[in-house]
Amino acid sequence: MIDRSSGPKPDRWVTLGSWPTPVEPAPRLAEAIGLASGALWMKRDDLGGLGGGGNKVRKLERTVGVALANGADTLVTTGAPQSNHARLTAAAGARSGLRVVLVFPGEPGRSGSGNLALDGLFGARVHWAGDVDRGQLATVAADVVDELRRDGASPELIPFGGSNAVGAYGYVEAGRELLDQVPDVDVVVVALGSGATMAGLVASLGADRVIGVDVGALDEPAEVVTALAGQVGGTSVSADQLRIRYDQVGAGYAQLTPASAEALRLTARSEGIVLDPIYTGRAMAGLIAAVRDGDIASDAKTVFVHTGGLPGLFGHPDTVRWAESALGQYRPGRAGTDS
Ligand SMILES: Cc1ncc(COP(=O)(O)O)c(C=O)c1O
Repeated sequence: MIDRSSGPKPDRWVTLGSWPTPVEPAPRLAEAIGLASGALWMKRDDLGGLGGGGNKVRKLERTVGVALANGADTLVTTGAPQSNHARLTAAAGARSGLRVVLVFPGEPGRSGSGNLALDGLFGARVHWAGDVDRGQLATVAADVVDELRRDGASPELIPFGGSNAVGAYGYVEAGRELLDQVPDVDVVVVALGSGATMAGLVASLGADRVIGVDVGALDEPAEVVTALAGQVGGTSVSADQLRIRYDQVGAGYAQLTPASAEALRLTARSEGIVLDPIYTGRAMAGLIAAVRDGDIASDAKTVFVHTGGLPGLFGHPDTVRWAESALGQYRPGRAGTDS
């Protein structure tokens, strides 16, 4: 049974996903990265049901629930054009009968793949904001909200990445759900983007059990997670209590790093599970690095939270090229060998 007892109570709950998501063993991957074979598990939040799945579904159940309670007819949000959060906001709007406006930096026509293609399929409309930074993008989104109001609509602004306290409660619940499934979990590893996913898990599992792998989306990730965890957790957590790894950011948020590529390859070839280059690939690379440097003991019961992002892989040309180049060639007489 899902526990929806925490956080603000919207008049209307919106159920967008299928819960609880499964927790699956990953013994072949565990052995490949130096963990005991029974030590690694995956919480499959990529299988959350709506719109291709991912961690944003849990946040949107709450933020869209609040929007509906406020009488909204239109959702407005921001992100990069390949944002998983934007795609799932578009899907949540479709499921809830709300219009969706996505405010993206850049110009139209630069990509027709991955999340952007799905945004179109879900019926979202895009406002291209041109050459703007994060702060300017937020201002453009606020202008779009004002414009919609003047036009007689009732818009609700969903924050960047779905990361406010309302959204973070979705991951307070996810942490409780995980404790029901794996009561003796020692370590939980998750990607840290806009912060609410890690914050919710810290609030329900404790700061010492959660490792967040920073992907480089925020200037001050520890401050954001500390603030959100404090808002949803009831007790305060200080930034130095958080276990955040900063070693996977690489040359920048949108790059396929060698460690992320290796994590994608290992996970796909040992478990048949796909990670994305930006978030879950970096998070798995952080998990692997943590095992190597002893931050995770080889017998520690470790849960990797698979937060989705598969469509993003198809919107990332370097990753598609790299994955295709890894195709082995069949040669007669070479059965049992790699090449
Ligand atoms: C696939 C995926 N995983 C993880 C994250 C990080 O979650 P959060 O933004 O709550 O830190 C995101 C955020 O965009 C995401 O799209």
